[in-house]
Amino acid sequence: MKAEFKWQLELGRFPLFPTLSLKGEGETFVLTGTSIAGGSRRMEQDQLEHYRRFGHRYAEVVHDFLGSGYRDPSPPQLTGDEVLLERFQSLAPGKKGLDAGCGPGARDVYLLHTRGYDMRGVDALQGNLDVAAELHPEIADRLEVADLSQPLRFPDASFDFVACNAVIQHISPELVKGVTLPELIRVLGPGGVLQLMFKSGSGIGTVLDPDYDVQRSFQLYTEHEILAVVEQHGCSLIGADGEDGLGGVMFFTDYKPMRHCVFHARKAQ
Ligand SMILES: C[S@@+](CC[C@H](N)C(=O)[O-])C[C@H]1O[C@@H](n2cnc3c(N)ncnc32)[C@H](O)[C@@H]1O
Repeated sequence: MKAEFKWQLELGRFPLFPTLSLKGEGETFVLTGTSIAGGSRRMEQDQLEHYRRFGHRYAEVVHDFLGSGYRDPSPPQLTGDEVLLERFQSLAPGKKGLDAGCGPGARDVYLLHTRGYDMRGVDALQGNLDVAAELHPEIADRLEVADLSQPLRFPDASFDFVACNAVIQHISPELVKGVTLPELIRVLGPGGVLQLMFKSGSGIGTVLDPDYDVQRSFQLYTEHEILAVVEQHGCSLIGADGEDGLGGVMFFTDYKPMRHCVFHARKAQ
């Protein structure tokens, strides 16, 4: 682990985060402190570059549900992507859905489309949508480029449910709290459900992603700070109400490994 630190520092990988300090946590390096705006934008660009380079591989991994089993889930019933998707479907009050940051291949837009949902997907990168159009031409006209750090083009209350999975890790906290979350909630109709999944913690998390053999950095968020914004904009956390034991603020660890938080919140009627 020390060698890894040395390598990073020698290569000057963090000159844009001068106020951050490094701490090792298992295979994950966590940087704590305050990022500066320029560093944050640079990280966003680096991460988008990752999807430009590895879009096809990403689509392959998610479509085969390769990294989709969750480790150490809380609750234990949250075993993977499919369980989460079924829970989301059971909570949605209608069929109109948006996948915000749908990713290379837009797997969930495709899956829900085949299950009879009226889906839209947006992503920052046209290349990610091109991969989706190659794999699933039938959803090509349901996908469009949008930057979630800007206002969305959809009118208020356009959707019954909105998913935003593993995306805000690429957007700075100021924009997530001031633009992304308020916009995702604005486009939800009354009683609509938001599913939000993000990497859990504080500061920036850096990890060697074994699937691509590259070092990646992500903005981490605590459930408290994200829930506070969601509640401020008129949504309430959906608790555990059924026999499946799912609900409330849930956690799991992915293959990298990084800890994720996921919850569902309902917009007031
Ligand atoms: C880890 S992938 C998640 C994809 C998908 N939601 C999933 O769960 O498989 C992150 C996605 O967020 C997209 N993204 C990053 N920043 C974005 C932004 N500002 N606006 C829209 N999409 C963004 C990336 O292009 C990438 O496709």
